[in-house]
Amino acid sequence: MEEKKLQELLNNMTEKEKLVQVFQLAACCYEEDFTPNFTGPMRDIQVDDTLKKTAGSVIGLLEPEEMQRLQKLCASGPNHIPALFMLDIIHGFKTIFPIPLGLACSWDTELMQKTCRVAAREARASGIHATFAPMADLVRDSRWGRVMESTGEDPWLNARFAEAAVKGFQGEGVGEKDSLMSCVKHFAGYGAAEAGREYNTVDMSRGVLRDMYLEAYHAAVEAGCRLVMTAFNTIERVPATCNKWLLTTLLREEWGFDGAVITDWNSMNELLAHSVAGDGKEAAGKALKAGVDIDMMSGHYLFDLGKKMEEEPELRPLLDQAVMRILRLKNEMGLFEDPGRGTDPKLARQLYLCEEHRALALEAAHKSMVLLKNERVLPLKKECRVTLAGSMAGAENLLGGWSFTGDAQDCITIPEGLKQIGANVAAPRHGWIDMDEVCALARQSDVTLLIGGEPVEETAEANSKTNLRLKEEDRKLLYSLKEQGSRVVLVVLSGRAFVLSDVEPYCDAILQAWFPGTEAGRAIADILYGIAQPEGKLTISFPYTEGQLPLYYNGFRTGRPQKEEALTGGEINEVDEIYVSHYIDCQNKPLYPFGYGLSYTDYAYRDLKLSSEYMYPGGTIQASVKVKNTGERVGREIVQLYLCDPVGSVVRPVKELKAYRLLELQPGEEQECIFTISEEDLKFWDNEEKKVLEPGRFIVMAGPDSERLLKSEFVYKLKKER
Ligand code: BGC
Repeated sequence: MEEKKLQELLNNMTEKEKLVQVFQLAACCYEEDFTPNFTGPMRDIQVDDTLKKTAGSVIGLLEPEEMQRLQKLCASGPNHIPALFMLDIIHGFKTIFPIPLGLACSWDTELMQKTCRVAAREARASGIHATFAPMADLVRDSRWGRVMESTGEDPWLNARFAEAAVKGFQGEGVGEKDSLMSCVKHFAGYGAAEAGREYNTVDMSRGVLRDMYLEAYHAAVEAGCRLVMTAFNTIERVPATCNKWLLTTLLREEWGFDGAVITDWNSMNELLAHSVAGDGKEAAGKALKAGVDIDMMSGHYLFDLGKKMEEEPELRPLLDQAVMRILRLKNEMGLFEDPGRGTDPKLARQLYLCEEHRALALEAAHKSMVLLKNERVLPLKKECRVTLAGSMAGAENLLGGWSFTGDAQDCITIPEGLKQIGANVAAPRHGWIDMDEVCALARQSDVTLLIGGEPVEETAEANSKTNLRLKEEDRKLLYSLKEQGSRVVLVVLSGRAFVLSDVEPYCDAILQAWFPGTEAGRAIADILYGIAQPEGKLTISFPYTEGQLPLYYNGFRTGRPQKEEALTGGEINEVDEIYVSHYIDCQNKPLYPFGYGLSYTDYAYRDLKLSSEYMYPGGTIQASVKVKNTGERVGREIVQLYLCDPVGSVVRPVKELKAYRLLELQPGEEQECIFTISEEDLKFWDNEEKKVLEPGRFIVMAGPDSERLLKSEFVYKLKKER
């Protein structure tokens, strides 16, 4: 439909019809035996036929045939405006991929894109138009349950993953029949909830917000995502849902976003609890003025905005603007011509868990795993006698949080995976943590596989916690096994970075498996037995203790750094140092740093060289480093490049990831890895909100993780000297 026609349509709409466009109804309201059970004002909603036929958008999912019926019904109102169907499709629809935090450890953005493409295909055929993903929130604190949904603690890497996800979901464009509109969330800074406590306050300087937190949302917008979701938290003491600077000045005027802004669930109503609005009318008015187009599940636009507009008629053009944005999205998807476009129940069922999708799920699961420790015990040999134990050994749901569209029954469990590859496994009959039986079996075995971590139910939204350790029963089992001399391989299934310092000394190997998705058990078995190789590296620091949190590799230098930190970034914990920024009972360093991960082969790094000692405006510098596979297996190494700006007009981070390469190396092979450093890599946001490049020294670091780094440096000068 042409823009002119859309405008005519808008002109023909009554105010009531407009208010319904900016409102979102839940799919369950269309079920015959529906009784409302919502939080906030929505609890009193009366769902009559007119509302059903005119709802602007719908959240939720029913069977594909039902979705088809609803899509027709929704377009049968007086103006024949189709509805947008939205849902959280976070790491797969029916075929479930590893949780995003796990996927990120592959450092493989193409893989992220492919998994989102598959999710889009399955979901669109099932009747969904938009997904509330990616979550581009940067996270430095694993107490926060939603860390599983993030890609970690690095702004630059998060940005690469966010744009890859948008490209994957939206494919060739949202006009295609197999694409979803992507909604980046939670705008902004939701990952920085104080003390890792869900829904808690966020407060930070604008410089940090811009340099660290905004980059990934911006990348998603640049990649063309059609929706942006507001966060539950405050930014500069103003809740994101009514923050005009965020939603209009930055998002629309500076970044040029032309899609629609949707609130998070009931967050417009939370403006009352936040104490920035006295009633629903005020909340609706503030949100509209700030730039919110769609109200998710508070009902204030539908119930109260009309009354507010009577008091403030100048709000009317803003409502028109919001409606127009929504109509445009529907038009972009071709829904006016065919409200059920792309919905195809038969195709959907062919796509669900098809061979191609499962193969990708297996590849993704392999690549997501991170080997944290290996004292020459892995990979296991087929004939090796293994005892399987631990609280998570029999877990049936290894899909991870935010995977309610998937079915745990489709997930390969760990016992099934081990069976599939023909492993020689003994399992206790009286329970996975029965101490006596497990220890007795372990005495007859070569290795015990202890599967620990946290149940899926302890991860994702509303699951902040302060104890990030293995369950007590697993720890006791581990200590007893070690006492009797058994060799133990610990597999950690978790949605966050765990504290493993108290168990690490007792383990011969540790594999961080996250929640691997549909192919979980098979992927874990493949990795343990060397059928596939662990190649992932952490995108979040693993703390030594919870008391260190928040903990991240790219922090600021303090005025009293530890010795090594004074140069480029925090390594040494000198016991004789006092009055420096450290703990008296714990190291500053994490147990496992950002970027860290082992494999079944080894690598040696040498000869970090720069193409010049100087860089000038318009110029670049090549940094090269030689990487050799010194082990006996073919391997894929993630070679990382960091920069540090040692003197700035504001304090600069000790190091920042700027590039990386995935290098495939044969045993004995050495390759030179070349990175191009551009002016863009040297810039940062100053306190005047300008992105600046300040002349002076820059330190270049390359290596296998954020701590073991070769160093070199150059100077950025404004003019060449004669
Ligand atoms: C979450 C969002 C999600 C929404 C809809 C909220 O509780 O914070 O991430 O997209 O619900 O399910």
